[in-house]
Amino acid sequence: MLTGELRNSARRHNFVTLKRFMAKLLEGKFALILGIANKWSLAYSIAQAFHREGATLALTYLGGKQKQTIEEFAQGWNVAAILPCDVTKDDELAAIAESLRALSRPLHAVVHSLAFANREDLSHPFCETSRAGFLLAQDVSAYSLVAVARAAAPLMTEGGSISTLTYLGSTRVMPNYNVMGVAKASLEASMRYLAGDLGQQKIRVNAISAGPVKTASARAVKDFSTILDITVSRAPLRRNVEPAEVADSAVFLASDLARGVTGNILFVDSGMHIMGF
Ligand SMILES: NC(=O)c1ccc[n+]([C@@H]2O[C@H](COP(=O)([O-])OP(=O)(O)OC[C@H]3O[C@@H](n4cnc5c(N)ncnc54)[C@H](O)[C@@H]3O)[C@@H](O)[C@H]2O)c1
Repeated sequence: MLTGELRNSARRHNFVTLKRFMAKLLEGKFALILGIANKWSLAYSIAQAFHREGATLALTYLGGKQKQTIEEFAQGWNVAAILPCDVTKDDELAAIAESLRALSRPLHAVVHSLAFANREDLSHPFCETSRAGFLLAQDVSAYSLVAVARAAAPLMTEGGSISTLTYLGSTRVMPNYNVMGVAKASLEASMRYLAGDLGQQKIRVNAISAGPVKTASARAVKDFSTILDITVSRAPLRRNVEPAEVADSAVFLASDLARGVTGNILFVDSGMHIMGF
């Protein structure tokens, strides 16, 4: 039996704990999110979740159509900047860093949620991948993390978090994922080397390995719906993941709750990665 004093102390303690967990996880944080194309994009769900948790956002677009879309989304969020970004262009990355520096506030989080490969390289046998197609996938989908981290790190003067999105096709052969699987392997290795480099600046670098989600990029992979179906029949949770679940993990990685986590791949895939077949 608790004495009255002990009971009151326990109540106070629980209240403090509750308040701590009710506080917004990204309050006061400034986050750069790359890769919103439309409302199906994982980056869109991530931006929504970051806004919900109190973050101020900087968003990037690729081309005029995306600019308009993102400007509409931004009306509902706390957005400090909307900037053009083709990650294959160093001058655009330098211009982003310049624009963010001009805001005179530290950057706390970066979410790299983008990739690209030629459609034919996601349907033909992997063996037929051209040199140009291979290098394009590596440039946009893997090297870009290095380029983005290099541009963003000097702005992260209080430390922070850089997260990227990957897929199980980096280590397992997935039908038609092909050149993108190789790019994801390179992305994951780059993530680890960046974590090794940037840790001294208190910058954590991690990847989320998301289960399959029907987005524009995913639809470019031939027979993508088969991957969705197989996940439902074989993953431990017997369902596909929701974009919001991926987004909540991105919130965790960007938040102080993950302050000891770097160089990690966080699987948000209904447990599919543990299955033998
Ligand atoms: N959807 C899935 O099943 C799934 C699963 C695991 C990982 N991922 C990864 O999640 C990330 C986001 O993809 P998504 O599924 O949300 O698809 P998406 O098509 O919505 O997003 C891809 C983004 O990449 C951007 N992009 C392409 N080339 C670019 C360039 N040169 N410069 C700047 N941006 C460029 C596009 O504009 C788009 O915004 C990708 O890295 C993808 O590989 C997706």
